[in-house]
Amino acid sequence: MQTLTINADRLWDSLMTMAQVGATPRGGVCRLALTDEDRAGRDLFVRWARDAGCAVEIDQMGNIFVRRLGTDETLPPVMTGSHLDSQPTGGKFDGVYGVLAGLEVIRTLNDHHITTRYPIEVVVWTNEEGSRFAPAMVASGVFAGEFSLEYGLSRAAIDGTTIGQELDRIGYAGERPCGGQPVQSYFEAHIEQGPLLEGEQRVIGVVQAIQGQRWFDCTLEGMESHAGTTPMETRRDALLGAAQVIQAVRQAAEAQAPDGRSTVGQLLVHPNSRNVIPGQVTFSIDLRHPQDEALFEMAQAVRAAVDRVCDEMGLTGDLKEIWYAPPTPFNTDCIDTVRQAAERMELTHMDMISGAGHDAKYLAQVCPTAMIFIPCKDGISHNEIEDATQEDVAAGCNVLLHAMVESAQ
Ligand code: HGY
Ligand code: MN
Ligand code: MN
Repeated sequence: MQTLTINADRLWDSLMTMAQVGATPRGGVCRLALTDEDRAGRDLFVRWARDAGCAVEIDQMGNIFVRRLGTDETLPPVMTGSHLDSQPTGGKFDGVYGVLAGLEVIRTLNDHHITTRYPIEVVVWTNEEGSRFAPAMVASGVFAGEFSLEYGLSRAAIDGTTIGQELDRIGYAGERPCGGQPVQSYFEAHIEQGPLLEGEQRVIGVVQAIQGQRWFDCTLEGMESHAGTTPMETRRDALLGAAQVIQAVRQAAEAQAPDGRSTVGQLLVHPNSRNVIPGQVTFSIDLRHPQDEALFEMAQAVRAAVDRVCDEMGLTGDLKEIWYAPPTPFNTDCIDTVRQAAERMELTHMDMISGAGHDAKYLAQVCPTAMIFIPCKDGISHNEIEDATQEDVAAGCNVLLHAMVESAQ
């Protein structure tokens, strides 16, 4: 068992084949949650899973559970997984690496006719990205009991389409209850999506925790009026107000340097006409920090900025917190299992915190959980140029294999 290794070429081929689903001209992917492209990726994965002799179940949030039987089916599964949905300009590895690394673990156990006492499960979690439907990780959150099923199914995209409607449309509205099933342990493999591993020239990230994040929607109301006739001093320009709040969002992170992170990624202007002073602007705010207190201070600074700008500019403001995910530590035994697997494979490794959110955050609420990171080129992710090496992809999957086999014996 010591020298058991995965089939690196097969894993890489599977990643490159999946990368053709929703491929974009710049070499990335666009498989927004529950779109036809996401369905195509799901269908391909389910076909591969069945080819590997696994049972496949879909739950009420569209999460896909692929199960390789253990010798004792009364035991809860040792689980891995991640997501197949992507950002609009996503890369070939974000999420999909963890899903296909899990499938490769199963394929490798099959090749070597290895049985495990605990069942092994690979899961595809619906809507991890939170791009089309907010919040992120909503389906693993329902599984973990953080959100109700009704809340999860009712999350709506900007065009009003809900998760429930889209699951029905693409044929992934499953019967299996979402959550409530015991899990022995959960390991998730993922690209780091940041520059630390590459900077330290390490191959494996032994992830200790996931930093906290808070998401807000902010709407500022001013007064639509004519771009040519309205004197500058009487304007109530919602977009100018938003610009000042967005500056303050950046300053909130800078005030919590070096770990604070803040982003405004979405902005809607109404009526969005070049010769009308914007009357209403709605924009997203993403705040993150490894410490909860600092994250709270960032949120307070943003709230104060909205009040100040509205007061100074005669606007009305609505700042709604739509998601709070506190910093989440992982299980020390699972962390040790990952570290020992990296040492067994003689791979360089380092302890680290995840700057990105992952479904493991919610699995950590229901079972012992840890994550395995590999580097990505220049630390770039959520970008079509996202890249990783075949060697690192294989290394991370070997660590996942040994961590899972160790836990499933
Ligand atoms: O936003 C995140 O951190 C993750 O990529 N969904
Ligand atoms: Mn991801
Ligand atoms: Mn992502």
